[in-house]
Amino acid sequence: MPTDLEDELGDIMQKARDGKSWSQKDLAEAAELPLEDIRRMERYDLIPPEDVIARLAQVLDLEGQALSVIARNAWHPKEPIPDPALDLVCLDVFMGTYPVKCYLLRCPATGETAVVDTGANPEAIIKKAREMKVKLSKILLTHAHPDHAWGLDLLVREFQCPTWIDEREPRPAGTRDFRFITDGEVIELGTLKVRVLSTPGHTPGGVSYQVNRVILSGDTIFAGSMGRANSSWPDLYRSITETLFSFPDDTALHPGHGPATTVGEEKRHNPFFCGKS
Ligand SMILES: [Fe+2]
Repeated sequence: MPTDLEDELGDIMQKARDGKSWSQKDLAEAAELPLEDIRRMERYDLIPPEDVIARLAQVLDLEGQALSVIARNAWHPKEPIPDPALDLVCLDVFMGTYPVKCYLLRCPATGETAVVDTGANPEAIIKKAREMKVKLSKILLTHAHPDHAWGLDLLVREFQCPTWIDEREPRPAGTRDFRFITDGEVIELGTLKVRVLSTPGHTPGGVSYQVNRVILSGDTIFAGSMGRANSSWPDLYRSITETLFSFPDDTALHPGHGPATTVGEEKRHNPFFCGKS
């Protein structure tokens, strides 16, 4: 059963409005639609007909056909091909009722293992690490939001390892043993080279981690959508188009929420980006 997309029509509309600094009323006026219809769409109460989706896409600078198939829940990204040169285990965990993904990354040659984000669920990570018979040597955070960084105290008590994070992020509670990272820095994990990609916009110091043709992208991009631009919409847009999309089409993107995808799938099907060079 594939993971549901993180974002529906209503989420995409909100994020596209954010990019224009538009209120719901601004959107209703631009698209010549009743304000109540916009409200209903954004609270997932109304999927409008095709001509309305096309009008919304046009005024929001989204690609209409891509938006339409997502609105009808008719698109799911093709799964990336696993990279045999690394072991990547995705953990589907919950913070309350909210699904979050975190990742165990293991070097097959040496067994050295890192976790990327905590999913606010250190118990699940500890259990999986025990099952895999590995001891984590690194905690790599994409950003400091609670659903990605809570539970450091338990992880640190279990594995006694440092935490990597961009200095522009707030310090999450639970450890003082931080390693501050910068764009382009390479973190060695056994024989794997994990490169830090600065991908701000969701948060000021948001990063993605790239190893071979795999990118663990936190809340920068979601399959069929983008993260919420809490710190800067233009920065987030550039992080995707200029950083993530600079990698080959078959590069896997593993976000913090929703299904895995690839650079090529997002260039072809993400309504924010497809049809734009
Ligand atoms: Fe986040």
